Amino acid sequence: MEQIYKYIEQHATPESEALKWVTKQTHIRTNHARMLSGSIQGQLMRMLVQMTGAKDILELGTFTGYSAICMGSALPEDGHLDTLELNDELEDLILEGFERAGLSEVISLHIGDCKESVRKLAAEGKMYDIVYMDANKREYCEYYDLVFDMVRPGGLILADNVIWDGKVCQDPLPQDKQTLGIARFNDMVSKDRRVESVIIPLRDGLNIIRKK
Ligand SMILES: C[S@@+](CC[C@H](N)C(=O)[O-])C[C@H]1O[C@@H](n2cnc3c(N)ncnc32)[C@H](O)[C@@H]1O
Repeated sequence: MEQIYKYIEQHATPESEALKWVTKQTHIRTNHARMLSGSIQGQLMRMLVQMTGAKDILELGTFTGYSAICMGSALPEDGHLDTLELNDELEDLILEGFERAGLSEVISLHIGDCKESVRKLAAEGKMYDIVYMDANKREYCEYYDLVFDMVRPGGLILADNVIWDGKVCQDPLPQDKQTLGIARFNDMVSKDRRVESVIIPLRDGLNIIRKK
């Protein structure tokens, strides 16, 4: 699989200089570089933004800003992205990455618990074409309920890590809260008649959910 991903990476549009910088700094300045979505998924996210003509994007879980830069750089001139992150120690790195990508005016970083931030954005009447969920896996069902009415009809909710290293397919399910949270979320989405959805087995699984 490693070899296939390497091949795909070598045959896709290369990463921008800003994304290379974010990847390098993430390795140097954090212990969690595996949380980066990476160039293949990043390129797919860019394409989803472009193909849907999205103008307003909400991201739950910024980490060091890699996926925000991927999506933000595909927005039209009047587009905007709100990204939500709990860990304030990442703030300087995130903002420098946005600046290097020329996206400081396009992306707004909101530090704090994303559930609180989403409630504030909802109170301001914000609506989105794409919501990307990539924060606490235990809370995906809660995020889905919180953001659902903020997604425009025809809009997308993208949820990352929904295969969770294959654990969601084990029988019986491992009893850790993350696996249970994701499994409950996938079940909930597959039964929700307000949406169409498909899980694509890219990296750790991406659930693409389209609001009817
Ligand atoms: C998998 S990483 C996000 C990766 C990022 N989207 C990317 O592709 O580069 C998950 C992030 O969610 C953040 N997070 C976890 N729980 C959160 C919460 N309740 N509110 C906001 N952010 C949260 C973590 O601090 C971490 O930085």
